[in-house]
Amino acid sequence: MLAAYAARTDPDDPLAGLEVGERPEPVAREGWTTVRLRAASLNHHDLWSLRGVGLPADRLPMVLGCDGAGTTEDGREVVVHAVVADPAWSGDETLDPRRTLLSERYDGTLAEAVAVPTRNLVDKPAELSFEEAACLPTAWLTAYRMLFTQARAVPGQTVLVQGAGGGVASALVALGAAAGLRVWVTSRDGARGERAVGLGAERWFPSGARLPERVDAVMESVGEATWSHSLKALRPGGAVVVCGATSGGAPPADLGRVFFLQLRVLGSTMGTRAELERLLRLLAASGARPQVDTVLPLAEARAGLARLERGEQFGKVVLVP
Ligand SMILES: NC(=O)c1ccc[n+]([C@@H]2O[C@H](COP(=O)([O-])OP(=O)(O)OC[C@H]3O[C@@H](n4cnc5c(N)ncnc54)[C@H](OP(=O)(O)O)[C@@H]3O)[C@@H](O)[C@H]2O)c1
Repeated sequence: MLAAYAARTDPDDPLAGLEVGERPEPVAREGWTTVRLRAASLNHHDLWSLRGVGLPADRLPMVLGCDGAGTTEDGREVVVHAVVADPAWSGDETLDPRRTLLSERYDGTLAEAVAVPTRNLVDKPAELSFEEAACLPTAWLTAYRMLFTQARAVPGQTVLVQGAGGGVASALVALGAAAGLRVWVTSRDGARGERAVGLGAERWFPSGARLPERVDAVMESVGEATWSHSLKALRPGGAVVVCGATSGGAPPADLGRVFFLQLRVLGSTMGTRAELERLLRLLAASGARPQVDTVLPLAEARAGLARLERGEQFGKVVLVP
């Protein structure tokens, strides 16, 4: 089958180790199901993998991709939950120390087919296209958990999203708006800021700009470049929820501000299968939909990943086998 895979890793030049070519069909083990993919979407995670982060050389070659939607052999239309927990684990799978994401230990979704544990299949609502559904299991699920499980944001609160253009950021804007939050965003780029307003943000601000008032919660995926602004933006007792650190992971901690203003610093990683089901229901009911930046044939995976690496996308890049 055709697949986009990491043949090698390179910390400085992620696309150098990318191959788009033939890989063996997946073999479904006991308790697993093979899904014929109708669409997959790219995440920053795919670039981290190509850089060798979370993907040691002894696991290569590895088919990339965490996000996918497709059909099972018996015709069930499904979305694939990307967090694979240990079979013995019960409860919140994001807390399983042995959990893994598709494409870290098991081949991922940038392919014509993928095998996953059967318990990781979630029914695709008829209201969503395969392309839309394929955007949800990583960036959108992460955004859902950040807003509603970790920050416990409620309608009428103000939430700041750092970095308007990213996959997680655009999901945060659309989900926050659908849930009645006042969403503010920052961006390095005015056009992307304006587009976030088009997705439901009330206002956008240039990265690092002083805000007219303090916010209840900040959603942080950028890291070093925005961390100090995130802490300064919070009201006393506010929460910053961190899911990533694209620009670097070791900013000054500013502990004085953290304890004096009793700020809550909360990590967040992916989400549970139950949260993915609730996210799908929220989209079906509210009409909120993922922002699709580009749809490309799987054979053009390199162009899609290059777009992500250059930070040119607004929303999700989708690949169709
Ligand atoms: N913990 C989890 O479960 C989880 C899940 C998904 C993603 N993540 C992580 O979250 C981060 C974002 O993921 P994503 O898929 O949304 O990535 P992405 O689509 O590549 O988004 C990154 C965004 O960050 C913003 N940004 C602001 N300042 C930046 C700077 N100095 N350098 C680079 N980017 C800057 C950009 O927005 P503007 O151009 O508008 O400024 C850019 O669009 C990644 O680090 C990813 O690994 C974690």
